[in-house]
Amino acid sequence: MHEVAKGLVGVIVTETTASMVDGSAGHLTYRGYAIEDLTAHASYEEVAYLLLHQRLPNRRELTEFQEGLAAEMTLEPYFVEVMQRFPKNSHPLTILRTLISITGVYDATANDNSLEAELRKAYRLIAYTPIFTAAWARIRQGLAPIPPDKHLSLAASFLHMHTGVNPTPAEIAALNVYLILMADHSLNPSTFTSRVVASTDSDIYSAITAALGALKGPKHGGANEATMEMFMEIGNPENVSSFFTEQVKGNGRKIMGFGHRVYRTTDPRSVILRHHTEALAKSLGNTHWFDIAAGLENLALADPYFTERRIYANVDYYSSVLLYMLGIEPNLMPLVFAIGRMAGWVTHVLEQRLENRLIHPEALYIGENDRIWVNLEDR
Ligand code: SDX
Repeated sequence: MHEVAKGLVGVIVTETTASMVDGSAGHLTYRGYAIEDLTAHASYEEVAYLLLHQRLPNRRELTEFQEGLAAEMTLEPYFVEVMQRFPKNSHPLTILRTLISITGVYDATANDNSLEAELRKAYRLIAYTPIFTAAWARIRQGLAPIPPDKHLSLAASFLHMHTGVNPTPAEIAALNVYLILMADHSLNPSTFTSRVVASTDSDIYSAITAALGALKGPKHGGANEATMEMFMEIGNPENVSSFFTEQVKGNGRKIMGFGHRVYRTTDPRSVILRHHTEALAKSLGNTHWFDIAAGLENLALADPYFTERRIYANVDYYSSVLLYMLGIEPNLMPLVFAIGRMAGWVTHVLEQRLENRLIHPEALYIGENDRIWVNLEDR
């Protein structure tokens, strides 16, 4: 009898050299580099290059890569026109998913799966995601989009496009750390989705559009939005205890930003994010939201329900506070997740193409058999 692995728990379906998630020890590495080193020393651009080109760039290669991204940093008028017609209350991830799909309509090389064409499209996707995110954030408020500044880093350029204000070094550094931590995470639901689509030899825009569809759910990329909304519902640090007792323990509500399919200890990204979130909060002189998050985490860490099931804070927990302090509204947070993860998605699409085998699992049929036909008038 075949054993059904619901949710593919523990099922290994491919090999990868992009990233390794050690769920027991709580370690994450990209192409063998620890995220602790990458967040301490690298720019997001260096990490995107590492994922796409399998090694860290030297200075010339990094400059060329930045120039390659800059060459793609445009917001064509037809995107602005179509965004101005979208309903302003649309969920931003629906907008981003649609804009990525439209990008495929206008890219004459969309269906050219050669490595050269795929790499250029990868650069375009990495460059467009922050541009689309910032543009929609403004257009939905009736504001004009701010064009990308090609001389800024991707993190700095996004913050500037989003608010029109030059971000501080502390804000740029905080977002750079976040984007690095989101860049890849082995075979998470949205990355797996991108590989399934790529495995049919479909185009990269279809693969990334599908990945964005998977990311939207609150069990996955929608979690940072749900986590910040939970903190806003709690409102003040003084309310954390009653929320935990009444809502979590009493009503069985899940703590958003907690739990993970693979990590059976604290998500290493959460450890790094807690430090940077606290530092940013203190530099801004406002630890209100950090105090709510830390207070709720401390209660869960002391509760057997969580410790026995090894349910700890994941990447979305503190990152929701960090992004909120950077001026990002909750329902834009999954798009900033996508800005970081775009490097990982395009890397996995390219990797799938290297030694492709159509991804086609099976299902165990448990329905009825040998049923006798009955004509409509006799039913
Ligand atoms: C991301 O995979 C990745 O790599 C994803 C990601 C990435 O980088 O791409 O890391 C990003 O998606 C992080 C996860 C973001 N999602 C959330 O924070 C939403 C809240 N978390 C849960 O929905 C849940 O923890 C999941 C979906 C993340 C994991 O779910 P699983 O592995 O399917 O585990 P489960 O739902 O079967 O839960 C096992 C037990 C259950 O209790 P019992 O039935 O044993 O009584 O743990 C409980 C669950 O009720 N549980 C929680 C909980 N998460 C699980 N209880 C309270 N709060 C929670 N957050």
